[in-house]
Amino acid sequence: MANITDIKSQSLQEVNQTQTVAELEEFRLKYFGKKGLVTSMLKGMGSLSPEERQVQGPAINALKTELLEAVESKKNELELSELNEKLKTEKIDITLPGRPEEPGKIHPISQTIDELVTLFGDMGFALAEGPNIEDDYHNFTALNIAEDHPARQEQDTFYMKEKKDGAPLVLRTHTSPVQIRTMMDKNPPHRIVSIGRVFRADYDITHTPMFHQIEGLLIDKNINMGHLKGCLIEFLETFFGVKDLPVRFRPSYFPFTEPSAEVDIGYSREDGDFKIGKGADWMEILGCGMVHPNVLRNCNLDPEEYQGFAFGMGVERIAMLKYGIPDLRTFYESDLRWLRHYGFRSLDIPCALNKTSGDV
Ligand code: PHE
Repeated sequence: MANITDIKSQSLQEVNQTQTVAELEEFRLKYFGKKGLVTSMLKGMGSLSPEERQVQGPAINALKTELLEAVESKKNELELSELNEKLKTEKIDITLPGRPEEPGKIHPISQTIDELVTLFGDMGFALAEGPNIEDDYHNFTALNIAEDHPARQEQDTFYMKEKKDGAPLVLRTHTSPVQIRTMMDKNPPHRIVSIGRVFRADYDITHTPMFHQIEGLLIDKNINMGHLKGCLIEFLETFFGVKDLPVRFRPSYFPFTEPSAEVDIGYSREDGDFKIGKGADWMEILGCGMVHPNVLRNCNLDPEEYQGFAFGMGVERIAMLKYGIPDLRTFYESDLRWLRHYGFRSLDIPCALNKTSGDV
């Protein structure tokens, strides 16, 4: 075996001559890599006789320790000098203008939901919530929707695996089950709105499989259709910011309301743009009606004592009309260019809350 003292002086000299961290690493590999000199010396110890090992072992180990210490301190020294070199050459030009940070935008659906919550909040409606995965009972049965109603057919409804007790589960197809949950949970009077996701198996320019609805429910004594009309007219005028907005209640049918109505607002189309509140055309906006006595009874309320009204509408639909967004599907394509165009700055005050007349 080569003279350990020679190896030591030779290698220590080599360490001292290295000029860069990379060179030092090369040195380290030469001695301590898989086939490095010190590595093979350590490996070779196994084949020495006990006497030889007693002499050579401590010397090899001492060599190893000393060399590794030398590498470590050289490394610190080189890193420091490389850093100093960098600091000297890499200057920061503080006169360069900063990169402007682009503020985020609020999605039109979030903005519209905020407006709706504020607006109905001002009218005394509290917020209520219900689950997205509903049971068939709350989504249909309790709402007086008969077994053979087309809304139950599979092309509209997303059916889920049934509950353990065998009860069918669905992705709620509307927010009306929150009416049932509200009436079953607490005693009247009720004055709530519920906003959230609903799901229907449908996809085209005016339908996406997930969209949002807002549901309103008011239950008290001596409530009649006049209250329903007054409340919705006030809401529509404020939301669209049009005073004396033409509003029409058109008789309709929903299993859970009687009488039922669909509500239209007056509009016209000028150069492809909707002008809400002007012209002779009518556009359907929402469904509503007086809560059906069967629904009240399903929730253990006596229809002779309590009455009320309910309404429901699509959030995307009214957002599209108010903000002139032509295609429903674009709401969920996560296209940043779209969001920059149609989105809102966080300080935007919903203009609907400053009632104005004329154009939207
Ligand atoms: N749930 C109905 C729908 O999804 C809307 C509605 C709600 C109608 C409340 C009347 C009363 O179409």
